[in-house]
Amino acid sequence: MSEKLIAPSILAADFANLQRDVEMINHSDADWFHIDIMDGVFVPNISFGMPVLRDIVKHATKTIDVHLMIVDPDRYIQTFADLGSDILTVHYEACTHLHRTLQAIKSAGMKAGVALNPHTNVQLLEDVIQDIDMVCIMSVNPGFGGQSFIENTYAKVSALKEMITRKNASTLIEIDGGVTNKNAKKLVDAGADVLVAGSYVFKSSNPITTVKDLKSLVN
Ligand code: DX5
Ligand code: ZN
Repeated sequence: MSEKLIAPSILAADFANLQRDVEMINHSDADWFHIDIMDGVFVPNISFGMPVLRDIVKHATKTIDVHLMIVDPDRYIQTFADLGSDILTVHYEACTHLHRTLQAIKSAGMKAGVALNPHTNVQLLEDVIQDIDMVCIMSVNPGFGGQSFIENTYAKVSALKEMITRKNASTLIEIDGGVTNKNAKKLVDAGADVLVAGSYVFKSSNPITTVKDLKSLVN
């Protein structure tokens, strides 16, 4: 079985000490940086935008996993590629022509991800699953860190894993929202490959140890 990955969400970092927190993740057992971009329209919150991402990328030494919670993401695909994103995830609910968007992300040199809100059924991806590098299953309603994990997520992960296997696709499954040591193992057992963790990592007394423990719990 391939290694399970941990992606700390920068949304929970201390923005007044961003370089310090980015370097802390560089020196941890984490695999990716998860970067939440919110526009205040697709979700009822505004996080940060391009200048902040540029400065994160300047210091980060790991994969940059960008989660766009914005309407009309097609407008910004090239910008996020130029800023150094390795994976660009758009929301299913924000894309009228999802297939075209996925092609555009890949043409810009990035891996293409699709995020699903808690109410969006995984079966809606059946016809495009082979074109998707990663599906991000939202285990909270997008917009805020620190929310409680939605239990129905396990069933969604199992259903998606079954589809990926049946379609012989190589799509990764990422889980985003409310991930802790209480649900991590069960998520991986259901088929998850990447666990995003914001508050659980950054609000802990020792984020380095928290990442290390989470990583060893699922590998
Ligand atoms: C929610 C974001 C998540 C969030 C996760 O809209 O997409 O990535 O930062 O934070 P926690 O782990 O605190 O739920
Ligand atoms: Zn996210």
